[in-house]
Amino acid sequence: MLEIDSLRLAYGKHTALDGVSMRVSPGECVVILGANGAGKSSLLKAVGGVLRPASGRILHEGTDLATVPPHAIVERGIALVPEGRGIFARMSVADNLALGGHPERARHGAEDRRAEVLALFPRLAERQRQLVGTMSGGEQQMVAIARALMSGPDLLLLDEPSLGLAPIVTKEVFAALARIRETGLTLVIVEQNVRASLALASRGYLLEAGRVVGSGSADELRDDPAVQRAFLGGTTEPLDTELT
Ligand SMILES: Nc1ncnc2c1ncn2[C@@H]1O[C@H](COP(=O)(O)OP(=O)(O)O)[C@@H](O)[C@H]1O
Ligand SMILES: [Mg+2]
Repeated sequence: MLEIDSLRLAYGKHTALDGVSMRVSPGECVVILGANGAGKSSLLKAVGGVLRPASGRILHEGTDLATVPPHAIVERGIALVPEGRGIFARMSVADNLALGGHPERARHGAEDRRAEVLALFPRLAERQRQLVGTMSGGEQQMVAIARALMSGPDLLLLDEPSLGLAPIVTKEVFAALARIRETGLTLVIVEQNVRASLALASRGYLLEAGRVVGSGSADELRDDPAVQRAFLGGTTEPLDTELT
């Protein structure tokens, strides 16, 4: 579904991605792990067309996304839930969802999709008139995910959905992601929460300073010393602790 080949991306003289290659097959849930500044957000933004690579290819079903404008990338069925959510705080839940349903591809069957999305997030169904800015962080994250789903994507990109959320709320967001995964949607998730994301994903990559330094199944990554180093440096907390 997605084949990233030798991707380079720079901010001026600063190289954020340096020859990143990865692939995602339909129906997979792939996690991208990496410490702060590793290049995770840059990678998702490049796929979403928000940032243009300096070189390399991002093939989506045979087309190089590097030349496709962002709105056309959404029309191809790729939706990005950005870091910090990017929702409209002064608008209601219903209006945020309506905006998500704006792409051409989403117009057909919009009512059914809205019902499906609200079934995934019952908490939002009860609060459609509420202004998003008055909701909790976890609820706002759910609005962001729900809005992205309203575009009817085949591939959903999520940038740190657990950022700033309490563990109990993180658990709820990940439970929703597990339900979304079960619908067969392809997911690429960027996370610092190793436990939660490796429990969700089947496979993943480890980024370090703009390069892929590890990859494998969720089990392999969990045991990878580089993953432990990137996330648990200096702590003695075992990686296999249940998320509570
Ligand atoms: N707008 C920007 N201008 C300059 N440098 C940036 C910008 N955004 C990110 N960077 C740098 O690029 C690198 C990768 O950033 P980012 O992709 O946000 O990493 P991550 O999401 O893994 O924390 C970091 O060194 C960061 O400081
Ligand atoms: Mg980031």
